[in-house]
Amino acid sequence: MSNDPRPDEDFREKQKQARVEINKLDADRVHDEPERIAFFNAVYQRAGRDAINVPWADLHPKDKLLDWLKDKKGQDQTALDIACGLGDNAEAIAEYGYQTAAFDVAADAILWAKKRFPESLVQYRQADLFDPPSEWLEKFDLVHECYTLQALPPKMFEKSARAVANLVKPGGTLLVYTRILPEPREQAGPPWPLIKDQAEIFFTLGFKLVSEDIFTIDRPDRQIPHGFYEWKKMG
Ligand SMILES: C[S@@+](CC[C@H](N)C(=O)[O-])C[C@H]1O[C@@H](n2cnc3c(N)ncnc32)[C@H](O)[C@@H]1O
Repeated sequence: MSNDPRPDEDFREKQKQARVEINKLDADRVHDEPERIAFFNAVYQRAGRDAINVPWADLHPKDKLLDWLKDKKGQDQTALDIACGLGDNAEAIAEYGYQTAAFDVAADAILWAKKRFPESLVQYRQADLFDPPSEWLEKFDLVHECYTLQALPPKMFEKSARAVANLVKPGGTLLVYTRILPEPREQAGPPWPLIKDQAEIFFTLGFKLVSEDIFTIDRPDRQIPHGFYEWKKMG
């Protein structure tokens, strides 16, 4: 696990201020696939290795993931963290015994994660969710994605969900951690929190829902609805 302190209110406030500049990178964009990739590359490049400049950086694994892992140690099992960002979730998965790979499309995110965790057991690499190494297809006992589906434009949602689903071994587990919208409404985005029907797309991709945890993350100025879903791939 990282030695970075958990973000406090001061960190969150600075992160919020930095977001104003980051939003400018994203303003008036078309939100197609190459533009999203360019946006993420730009965020990590201009961050200067300061996580305040990465709006989604928590510098700590998600508590829901840690709770899940406590009962599901991964001896002899393989895991993949999709779009791993700065690596905290991937590190937690590896610490619980999974042979863990993690990737992100942004090369700078991967370099940064490797620098933060020099002794890591995680196999980090730069890769694109939409063009993953062929040996990864249906390979992993556990696939985890956090804030990736919601970070990609709604018009790419089905394609994104399929790409995530394709990495899970038949009989394997998929964990999805995402913001949700309790009621459908127009969304400016990014991010684009998932509405109920979207969150349930994995039914149509051959998965069974094992558990669904709906909760809020509380910030001083707002409450952010979230879902943490465990899916099992049938077959
Ligand atoms: C909102 S961030 C979440 C990062 C990390 N999962 C976390 O929770 O901190 C979304 C991540 O998706 C990555 N990403 C975007 N498009 C991608 C793609 N096509 N393939 C792989 N990663 C991608 C971005 O570089 C970024 O790190």
